[in-house]
Amino acid sequence: MASLLDRLIPGKNRRIDLSRDLLKSVLVLGAVIEARDAYTGGHTWRVAQYSRLLAEQAGLSASEVFLSGLGGFIHDIGKVGIPDQVLNKTGRLSEDEFSLLKTHPTVGKKLLDNHPLGPLVLDSITYHHERYDGQGYPSGIGSQSLSIYPRIIAVADCFDAMTSTRSYRKGMPKDVALGILAELRNTQLDGMLVDSFLGFDVTRRLDHTLGHSDEGRRLANCPMDGLIVALPRYKEDGDMVYCHACKGIYRLHIAQDTFELEATGQQRFDLQPEIDLELINDLASGAPRSIALQREMSNQENMDKHGSPWE
Ligand SMILES: [Fe+2]
Repeated sequence: MASLLDRLIPGKNRRIDLSRDLLKSVLVLGAVIEARDAYTGGHTWRVAQYSRLLAEQAGLSASEVFLSGLGGFIHDIGKVGIPDQVLNKTGRLSEDEFSLLKTHPTVGKKLLDNHPLGPLVLDSITYHHERYDGQGYPSGIGSQSLSIYPRIIAVADCFDAMTSTRSYRKGMPKDVALGILAELRNTQLDGMLVDSFLGFDVTRRLDHTLGHSDEGRRLANCPMDGLIVALPRYKEDGDMVYCHACKGIYRLHIAQDTFELEATGQQRFDLQPEIDLELINDLASGAPRSIALQREMSNQENMDKHGSPWE
């Protein structure tokens, strides 16, 4: 039976038209997981930014840079299928819970499989936890045999996980995390991509993303529990913001580029997820009008194209 892509875009020179509305529908899915996972505080935006930077540094084309960012933003969408008590658990996960968490790439693949823009993001969603040495999941195939996108996202995801503060540990300083990335060359991560990632730190380009949840939006710390609170772009000086962990309500104070939270002594327990539509529009506006596809992202043609751009 013909694949969805074959049915959608018959012929050899296939392109996918990136209708802004369709693209926004994918981006909103990425924002949903951000709203659901209380402790990620801008994780999807940062992984998207790091992935774009890394793709640029690795010399990929403008479309490929865009797809790297899009994949970075949507990569964890399968976490919508993971129960709250596992997703937001602050302690160590049991073996069973970890097995459940590890289903999120396949759950995500099922969710996007029939979306018209699925072919643009399916590799990123399905394979971002594969490792270079084949010890990853869900398939355990060495990531060097995959397209470039999940390999890029794996580096970006790993760096953000190490440098982000969680309820059970503080984020590592940048230099420590970069040192660990270097140690993961050709075991967990693609060594050439790690080298590229280390390369752009020289120009301090990481600093605009590290500790931020959007362009110019530094993460604030909850005065009660010290956890990070992501501040959407539409929140202005004097607005109320919430800490998802302690449920406290805080007044936001913005002075130049510092963001501070003042306790109001109030709490609310009916927190509603908030989607930052401005951010979604921004991400969609940077997209090319159409993208040429080399059939499925992980096929041989694509591997030939992307498999060894640094050799
Ligand atoms: Fe993931």
